[in-house]
Amino acid sequence: MKRHILAVIPGDGIGPEIVPEAIGTLRTVAERCGGFQIDVRQFDWGTQHYLTTGAMMPADGLDQILAAKADAILLGPVGDPRVPDHVTLWGLLLPLRQRFQQYINLRPARLLAGVLSPLVGAEGRIDIVCVRENTEGEYAGAGGRVHRGTAEEVAIQSSVYTRTGTERVIRFAFEYARAHGRAKVTSATKSNAMQHGMVFWDDVFAEVAAKFPDITSERQLVDSLAARIVAKPHTLDVVVASNLFGDILTDICAAVTGSMGLAPSANLNPERQYPSLFQGVHGSAPDIAGQGIANPIAILWSTALMLEHLGEEESAGALMRAIERVLAEGRIRTPDLGGTSTTREMGEAIRRAVSGRRAERY
Ligand code: NAI
Ligand code: MG
Repeated sequence: MKRHILAVIPGDGIGPEIVPEAIGTLRTVAERCGGFQIDVRQFDWGTQHYLTTGAMMPADGLDQILAAKADAILLGPVGDPRVPDHVTLWGLLLPLRQRFQQYINLRPARLLAGVLSPLVGAEGRIDIVCVRENTEGEYAGAGGRVHRGTAEEVAIQSSVYTRTGTERVIRFAFEYARAHGRAKVTSATKSNAMQHGMVFWDDVFAEVAAKFPDITSERQLVDSLAARIVAKPHTLDVVVASNLFGDILTDICAAVTGSMGLAPSANLNPERQYPSLFQGVHGSAPDIAGQGIANPIAILWSTALMLEHLGEEESAGALMRAIERVLAEGRIRTPDLGGTSTTREMGEAIRRAVSGRRAERY
C-alpha cells in the first residue's frame, strides 16, 4: 500500500485544537477512499519550545524534516502573545518556506454554499485563486536596525525581487490558469509609488503574459485591487501578488468568503525537491485559543490541497465534497460561522460526511 510520510507541527494557539482534526480526518479519508497510509512524524516546535529552549525549533530542525523523508508538512499557525511575533515567525514558518523553496503560496478563496458572506448578493459569485510569492519580496528579511534607542536610530527593511523569483511565480499563475480553465490573471502592483521593484514586477508580468495569449492579463494597483475584492469580487479569477500584497489580499479574500476559519493555503515547492507545506491562512487566534471553538475547516481544506499535491486526487475530492456538504447542510457551525458547534463537532461532522453517512443519523 502506498505510504505518505507527513511531518506535523501543531504550532501555537488554536493549532493543537485544529491539527488533530486534520490528522483524524486524513485517516478517515485514507481508510474510506484512499488505498494509502499516512505515517505521521510529529514535531512539537513552536512557542513552548521557545520558552523552554530559547529557540522555536532545534538548530537542525529543517534537517530533521528532511531526514524523516517527509512528503509534506502540515503546520498549525505559529504566534503567541508571550513572544514577539517576528521571533515566532522568523523562528519557524519563514525559514521553512525559504529553505524548502516553497515559492508558491496558493490560496483559493471560494464562497461555499451555506456560508454567509458579509457581501450582499455574493452567493456563488466568489471564486478567486491567489498565487502569492512566498520566499522573497517584502519578506526577504533583508535589512537591519542601527543606533538602537538613540535619536539617530535607523531601520531599513528592503524588498528583494529577483528575476528568477518574480518570473517563476508569475509563470506559475498563468500555467495554473491554463491548467484549470481559468480565463484571467490579475497582477497586484504598486508601480506608481515603488518605481524600482514594482516597475520591475510589471515588466516581468508583461513578458510572461505575452507567452500566454490564451489567458487575459491585467494589472491593478494593490490599493484599488483590495477595494475591488470587496466591491466586485466576481470580476476576479487568478490573482498573482508579491509576498506582502498577497498576504494582505488573502485576509480580505478570507473575510469576504465568510471567515478566517475557512481559508486554506498550500506552500508549494513545485519542483518537489523539498516537501511542500499546508496550513490555514489564519494565525493562532489567541482570542479564542483553548476554548475548543476554532473552525478546523481552513486546515481541512488545506489538507485537501495536500492530498491533491500528493497525487491523491480522488481523496482530495472526497474531503472537499464532505466539507461542502457539512457547510451546505448548515447544522454544524462553529461560532465564526454564526453557530455554537465546537472544533471537534465540526471535525466529526466532516468525517461522517467523508464516510458517506448523513449527519442527521448521529
Ligand atoms: P488571526 O488569523 O490569528 O486572527 C484574526 C481573527 O480571526 C481573530 O478574531 C481570530 O479569532 C479569527 N480566527 C482565525 N482563525 C480562526 C479559526 N480557525 N476559526 C475561527 N476564528 C478564527 O490573526 P492575528 O490575530 O493577526 O494573529 C495572531 C497570531 O498569529 C500572531 O502571533 C501572528 O503573528 C500569528 N500569525 C501566524 C500565521 C501563521 O502561522 N501562518 C499567519 C498569521 C498570523
Ligand atoms: Mg497572513
